[in-house]
Amino acid sequence: MSERLQPGALLGILGGGQLGRMMAMAARTMGYRVRVLDPDAHCPASFVVDEVVVGHWGDVDAARKLATGCDAVTLEIEQIGIDSLRAVAEIAPLRPGVEPVRIIQDKILQKTWLREKGFPVGAFEIVERAEELHGAVERLGGKVFLKTARGGYDGRGQARIGFDGPASEAELHEAWESIGARPAVAEKALDLDVEISVMAARNPSGEVRAYPASRNHHENQILQWSVTPAGVSDEHEARAEKNAAEIAAGLEIEGLLCVECFVTREGELLVNELAPRPHNSYHQSERACVTGQFEQSVRAALNLPLGETVLVQPAAIINLLGDVWIDALNGQPNFARALEVPGVRLHLYEKHTPRRARKMGHLSAVGATAEEALGRVQWAFEVL
Ligand SMILES: Nc1ncnc2c1ncn2[C@@H]1O[C@H](COP(=O)(O)OP(=O)(O)O)[C@@H](O)[C@H]1O
Ligand SMILES: [Mg+2]
Repeated sequence: MSERLQPGALLGILGGGQLGRMMAMAARTMGYRVRVLDPDAHCPASFVVDEVVVGHWGDVDAARKLATGCDAVTLEIEQIGIDSLRAVAEIAPLRPGVEPVRIIQDKILQKTWLREKGFPVGAFEIVERAEELHGAVERLGGKVFLKTARGGYDGRGQARIGFDGPASEAELHEAWESIGARPAVAEKALDLDVEISVMAARNPSGEVRAYPASRNHHENQILQWSVTPAGVSDEHEARAEKNAAEIAAGLEIEGLLCVECFVTREGELLVNELAPRPHNSYHQSERACVTGQFEQSVRAALNLPLGETVLVQPAAIINLLGDVWIDALNGQPNFARALEVPGVRLHLYEKHTPRRARKMGHLSAVGATAEEALGRVQWAFEVL
């Protein structure tokens, strides 16, 4: 059985973005030391860690440098080169593990794994070459999301097909080119009622815990707000939590697994996609649940007992994208006004250049009900 790593141990994190930063803060709270790998020496995590190793996700030497001396290594992003992951795993325990990340980082492998294991997924087809797209779109009913197998996020690497009537050859061609003309998954466009996600955690000792589901709202395919609890039926809640726990166990995840789900207008619960790391839709878990996702990720990576995940109070977050700064009158949002709203907190990631669609921070709020928590973050956002 893996060792339980005591405070003072050194945790390595592949990626020093906002997720790496908040994991590092949780680790430091518990007395661990932290080192991150990131292409940017001034990444969000750099301000709170002991050491930054500068290098790209595919840089195997940099990955070795990160891992050397670490007691365990985890990650905040799934798009790390497989050779880098293997190199790390030879030096220190890599959590969540090479194999689950290999499967998840490729949408073709991920979707196929879910379908083969019997988890509910919407209709999809694998499209390896341009010529296969036409038939796939037809068989999927004409309205399709085309998603590149590798590297897509926040709606990037995605194209919608057939939303303005039957797709022409020109539209198919344009969609294929727009995602880089590379292997992809074509998914039937579903009629969504709500989008939810469920976080599960599994430690190397095999202990698994699921969180209460979050309800998520996207705009332009980017998460805009999220609230816990999700407010779905007890049956959907129970099934979503069970799915997440079983997927985490099936993939033998050592860490966090976030399962994004769709609830369709017909009431079907389908798995959309997986993320083997902390997730934007669980930032509010720090306030909503006994144990926040960042502390949980640290516990899992260090093989500590997992924390309780039960709801303490409803909480919500709203993302602050670079647009907020760009559109502010003098380039500076009015944070003081937002902080006047009861129950609101501010979380900024110390990214110094605002860009449109770039996640710069978030607001969180608690409330007596999910609606109140959500209303408060939305109110705070309005007065920024
Ligand atoms: N098959 C689908 N049917 C309906 N909406 C979808 C479908 N796939 C994606 N979407 C919408 O696009 C968003 C982003 O897609 P997702 O696959 O989660 O990619 P990303 O990696 O960008 O998060 C989803 O949250 C959902 O709102
Ligand atoms: Mg998604």
